Amino acid sequence: MSEVEYQKHYYPGTRDELVARLREQLSDFRFEHVVRVEHTAVKLASRYGIDAEKASVAGLVHDYAKECSDEQFKVVIQREHMDPDLLNWGNFIWHGEVGARIINQELGITNQEILDAVRFHTVGAPHMTPLQQLTYVADFIEPGRDFPDVATARAVAQTSLEQAVVYETKHTLTYLMANDRPIYPAAIATYNAWIGNRK
Ligand SMILES: [Fe+2]
Ligand SMILES: [Fe+2]
Repeated sequence: MSEVEYQKHYYPGTRDELVARLREQLSDFRFEHVVRVEHTAVKLASRYGIDAEKASVAGLVHDYAKECSDEQFKVVIQREHMDPDLLNWGNFIWHGEVGARIINQELGITNQEILDAVRFHTVGAPHMTPLQQLTYVADFIEPGRDFPDVATARAVAQTSLEQAVVYETKHTLTYLMANDRPIYPAAIATYNAWIGNRK
């Protein structure tokens, strides 16, 4: 695909410079994932008339903090006076919610819609802008994903971004429950807003 040229300063540098930062920050495995999420996000952006540059930045940075240590996250939670309940959770929650702060501080990204796309990418939110929906969905359906229902998730994403959010939210919560995993309260709020209240 043709790469997005950065002109709007959502990231204070070129796409190549951002990619270089990610290469330093992430393992090869995760670096390849974020590039695939970016490509998927940019394709969805063009399909749904969403800003491609925002989609590119959000896709690339969404997992920037994923490989930070637990200690690093705890320091940020305390230093930034974030909700102390966060300390009861782990990397899965931290790399979105706390990761957005880290991205703001380390990468100089200040656009709130992009920072919230990072915050919401793992558990969603009751209100998500199209960019935030797209980031949430792109992470779920990027070409490296191979869970059993991924073909359905991809097909839904081609017809409706909102329906893709619904599908992903339901799928994720069902998976967590089936595997006796705890559910972060914000994920339930996402479920109620996108599924429960739409009946
Ligand atoms: Fe993530
Ligand atoms: Fe991801």
